[in-house]
Amino acid sequence: MINGELWTDIDGKPIHAHGGCRLYHNGKLYWYGEDRRDNVYVSCYVSEDDGQTWAFANHVLTADSPTQKTRVEADLSLRNPSGGKVNLERPKVIYNQKTKKFVLWAHYENGENYLKAGAAVATCDTPDGDFVYHGSFRPYGEMSRDCTLFVDGDKVYFISAARDNADLHFYLLSEDCLNVSRLVNRAFSNEFREAPAIIKQDGKYLLITSECTGWKANQGGYSVADDIEGVWSDIQPFGDKTTYGSQSAFLYRNPQGDIVFFGDRWGGNGFLHGGKFIYEDSAYVGYKIEWTKQSAVLIPSNEAFI
Ligand code: GAL
Repeated sequence: MINGELWTDIDGKPIHAHGGCRLYHNGKLYWYGEDRRDNVYVSCYVSEDDGQTWAFANHVLTADSPTQKTRVEADLSLRNPSGGKVNLERPKVIYNQKTKKFVLWAHYENGENYLKAGAAVATCDTPDGDFVYHGSFRPYGEMSRDCTLFVDGDKVYFISAARDNADLHFYLLSEDCLNVSRLVNRAFSNEFREAPAIIKQDGKYLLITSECTGWKANQGGYSVADDIEGVWSDIQPFGDKTTYGSQSAFLYRNPQGDIVFFGDRWGGNGFLHGGKFIYEDSAYVGYKIEWTKQSAVLIPSNEAFI
C-alpha cells in the first residue's frame, strides 16, 4: 500500500475507516473507522495477515442501529431533527475484559454544526457485530470532541478535546466502560490540540496530537509522560509542517514490535486526494516512529509502514 493513495480491500473496494483504531482479538486484527456513506457511521474491516490485506467485515454502527439506554442519561438519537445524519467521528473500540464486551466511544455532533461536542458510546458482544448504541453525553458536562481510548493494564482511559478544543481531558472510565468515573488529568491548556493518539513503551507514554485546522493537515506534535495522570512534557514538533500530509488517527505496535503512526488524508465532504475531495476515495498513511529517550521521529516513506 502506498502512502496517501487509495487503499482498497480484498474485493478492490475503497476502505472507509477514518479517524479510527485497530484492535487485535483472537489472532485477527480489526480496523474500525468513520464511514460517511449512506446510513453508515462506523465500518469495520478484518485482517488475518497483520494488516497486509483487509476484508470488509460490517457496518457496525449506522443511523439505523439498535439503541438502548444505560444508567447514563444520554441522547439516543442517531439522526438529527431534520432526519439527516449526525456525525460520529474518530470511533475507537476496546475490549472490556470485565464485561466481555467490545466498547466503542466516538465524538458526536448533530451533522449541522459542531456545537453538541459530545461523547457517544456503543457496545457489542463480538468485534464486528451490530453495535448497540447507548447515546451521547458530555462527560461531567464538559465539551468533548476529538478523542481516543487507551487501555492501560486494567484501566481504560478516554482522552478528548474539551473547552472548545482548548484543553485535552483525560478521563478514567468506569469498570463497564459505559461512563467516565474520574477526570484524572487536564493537559495542554489553551494549546488547541486535536486527533489524540497514544501508546506506551517501557513504562512511558507517547501522545501524538494535531493542531486545530479542521481536516487540513498541519504540524503534528508529540508529548511524553511517565504517568498518564501526571505531567505531560511540552509539545514538540512531530513530522514536518503537514505531518507528511496527514492527521493522526491512531498509534499501534506491529508484530515486529515497531511503533506505527497511522494517519488520514481526507475531509468531511469526501477524501482529500490530489488537492480535491473525492467521496469514493480513501487515503491513509502509515509511517514508522522511532522513539528514543531523546525524541519521537516520524520516518517518511512512500510505501506504507505496517
Ligand atoms: C478536525 C477533526 C475532525 C473533524 C473536523 C471538523 O480538526 O480532527 O475529526 O472534527 O475537524 O472540521
